[in-house]
Formats: sequence, C-alpha cells, structure tokens
Amino acid sequence: MGLRDDVYRRSLKTAFDRIELAVGSKCADVGAGGGDIAIELAHWVGDIGRVYAIDIDPKRRNEVAEKAAQFTQVIAITQAAEELALPEPVDLAFCRFLLLGVEDPAQAVAGMARIIKPGGWLVAQEPVTSSGRVGHHPLRVDTEAIKHPDIGLDLVRLMQGAGLEVVDTWAEAPCGFGGSDVVSYLEQMTEAKVDKGDTVLLPPLLCAVAKKPS
Ligand SMILES: C[S@@+](CC[C@H](N)C(=O)[O-])C[C@H]1O[C@@H](n2cnc3c(N)ncnc32)[C@H](O)[C@@H]1O
Repeated sequence: MGLRDDVYRRSLKTAFDRIELAVGSKCADVGAGGGDIAIELAHWVGDIGRVYAIDIDPKRRNEVAEKAAQFTQVIAITQAAEELALPEPVDLAFCRFLLLGVEDPAQAVAGMARIIKPGGWLVAQEPVTSSGRVGHHPLRVDTEAIKHPDIGLDLVRLMQGAGLEVVDTWAEAPCGFGGSDVVSYLEQMTEAKVDKGDTVLLPPLLCAVAKKPS
C-alpha cells in the first residue's frame, strides 16, 4: 500500500459503507494512479465483480496491471476521464485526487456520469487544500502543480451540473503528530518542517455521493 492510501484510507471505507457496495458490483476507479483504490475495490466486489482502473497516463496502466495481477476482476486501461468509453455501464464511478489536477473538472465529472448505470453511484473524494494546517499555520502546497486546490467545495455543483442527484456530503481529514505516517506523508509531499509537538491536519477530503436518476 502506498503512503497516500494509508493516511487517507479511513475515508474510503466510510464511502463504500455509505453506498453499501455489494459483491459482484462493476466499478470504475478514474485517475487510478498506482492502483491502491482499485485493489481495495477488488476486495469489496469479489471475484464476480469488475473494477476498471483507468488513468490517462499509460505508465500507470502498466503499474496497476502489475500490482493487481492476482485480481482477475481488475482491468487496467488508459483513458481520459473526459472521454470514458467502457464495454459496460458501471454501478460505481469513483475518483480521489483526480479533479484537482484536470483542466476542466466539469467535463471529467460529465465523463464519469456517462458511464454509470441508471440508479448507480458517483463518489468523489477531493481536497480542500487551503484547510490543511501545521500547528496553527496554513499548510503550504505547490499550488502551481494543482489546478483547483479547493475543488472539494465544488463537487456538489459539478455533480448537479452533470445531471446527478447529490445524496450526501461529508469531510474527513487525517491528523497526526510526531513520527506518525501523516507527518511522513506531509514531509514527502511538501517542504514542510514539522516540530515534534506540532499537530498536522492534512487537507480534508470532501466526499460527495451522488446517484444517477433511474
Ligand atoms: C494525484 S493522482 C491520484 C491517484 C489515486 N486516485 C489516489 O487517490 O491515490 C492523480 C491521477 O490522475 C491521473 N489523471 C490526471 N488527469 C487525468 C484525466 N484527465 N483522466 C484520467 N486520469 C487522469 C494522473 O495520471 C494520476 O495518476
């Protein structure tokens, strides 16, 4: 498991519990990166389910294919979120840390909405970067590499704009101190200097859950 998945993994379980993701479900993990979430999804949907691990970067496809080799239900493919075309509609399209980096988040959300079955789910977990803290100080991130740092706050509007019915939203933030995984993650991702007594609040992930009307 990657460090990101470790520090942000609690919020994944909350989301999958919320939609009661069932064995046999068909899912798409869009912007799959290293594939940690696709593998987590594979455990939830079992051998008879299917998980499309989708990323625009072909190198990521190879990485996921290698990492998920033992999970026959995981299919790694190279596609852009904005132009998704799958062999079958899915019960769940999921993204995390995707929309903050795309040119046009509305097009990416519309692309995901298109591949969902009527009655299926879109779950997005995206950050509110400006809410991160190191002690009392705002957490500094390289916002040049991030096109939409507070995209979490736009999820409801984006989902509604794609014709979906938003049914729930909440936010969860990993928090840590001392030599915790949260501090190691922050030091790996940024140039932050963390004193031993500082509490680190990573950017909360705003989770929005929406349903495609039947
Ligand atoms: C920050 S990583 C997040 C990976 C993973 N979702 C996670 O939470 O650990 C963003 C991933 O989205 C991919 N990506 C960026 N733009 C994309 C697009 N338009 N369509 C599909 N994938 C995209 C990148 O290649 C990268 O692997």
